Amino acid sequence: MRIVGVSSISAAVLGASGFSGGELVRLLDTHPSIEVTYVGANRSVGKRLAEVHPHLAPMAAGGLPLKALDPDAVSGAADVVFTAMPHGSSARLAPALLGSGSIVIDLAGDFRLPAEAYPRWYGFEHPEPAWLDEAIYGLPELFGDRLPGAKLVANPGCFPTPVILGCAPLLEAGLIQPGTIFVDGKTGLSGAGRGPSEATSFAATDGSIRPYRIPGHQHTPEMERGLELAAGTAPAIVFAPHLVPTVRGVLTTCFAPLRSDTTTEDLLRCLADVYRDRPFVRVLAPGEMADAKRTRGTNLVELQAVADPRSGTAVVIGALDNLVKGAAGQAIQNANLVLGLPEETGLSRSAVVP
Ligand SMILES: NC(=O)c1ccc[n+]([C@@H]2O[C@H](COP(=O)([O-])OP(=O)(O)OC[C@H]3O[C@@H](n4cnc5c(N)ncnc54)[C@H](OP(=O)(O)O)[C@@H]3O)[C@@H](O)[C@H]2O)c1
Repeated sequence: MRIVGVSSISAAVLGASGFSGGELVRLLDTHPSIEVTYVGANRSVGKRLAEVHPHLAPMAAGGLPLKALDPDAVSGAADVVFTAMPHGSSARLAPALLGSGSIVIDLAGDFRLPAEAYPRWYGFEHPEPAWLDEAIYGLPELFGDRLPGAKLVANPGCFPTPVILGCAPLLEAGLIQPGTIFVDGKTGLSGAGRGPSEATSFAATDGSIRPYRIPGHQHTPEMERGLELAAGTAPAIVFAPHLVPTVRGVLTTCFAPLRSDTTTEDLLRCLADVYRDRPFVRVLAPGEMADAKRTRGTNLVELQAVADPRSGTAVVIGALDNLVKGAAGQAIQNANLVLGLPEETGLSRSAVVP
């Protein structure tokens, strides 16, 4: 395996024909130190990547052929492996890759929870529970010091990222109290992946705003666990996700019990202090509202917090691009930190607007 300091680190993207995998390849195209050398897929094996993702440059990684998910071939071709496949696939594949010395950054939920949580929240018995203790939960702004030299990174989910980043510092500082946090989540359609389905078709989603998977969404225990890891106390999360007719973007609004004498300025000062030097967290000014559109194509998360003393509630809002800070961008940020590169390398903070 090559090590940092050498100009090019080789990377495999498994699940490259999907939305998150395609976004990984798109972002890595301009990364100065990481080069995509292997793209893996399932049904698309044999095609060139640019055939299934015509927006990717065929003269760069888009010209690579999609290959089978053979761990020996992948490890032979890549120092770092990004796994962006349906839940359950990387749990089976990652141990062989790790055994061959590859670094694995998993975008699925396969290494984010304790073993006993998998049957209930993901519907499978974890096949490799020993690796769950090795995995670092890759939320760089809160756990970045654990990343240098890590072998296995569990890249956080798109909804848990803004919820944990917004609520953990406030919980730790005692500005919101342990108890129940109600989370309203909105996601664009790319959050559901590329595969066509009746529920995500244009006819079903145009003009529609609809909740789903309440109260069983798999990001619920991840939010509780992430908050406990960061703040030392685990609130109960009630999570109501909604599908909205846009392509990219996640917006979460959390309602948490407010400490009685806390003001909006207290909440925002706490967040601004914690994220002062963090390149991808934008804590908004009082009264400015988060907007997922301003994060489109970037690795940014926008955070806003408002105290409502009348109801005794802190309202904590977060917005991001589900395919970037919620998936591929955060995975690259994690890889940068694992490899000892500056965490911003290859990642943008300026959005594509309008
Ligand atoms: N979409 C998001 O916003 C988002 C955000 C955060 C995390 N994630 C996670 O990232 C992962 C990928 O999500 P996605 O939205 O990018 O999905 P997607 O668009 O549906 O793509 C899935 C990818 O996995 C491959 N695949 C399908 N079935 C497979 C199997 N049985 N074994 C191995 N590979 C298989 C597909 O290959 P073929 O096309 O060749 O069949 C495709 O490359 C999921 O675990 C998801 O939860 C997604």
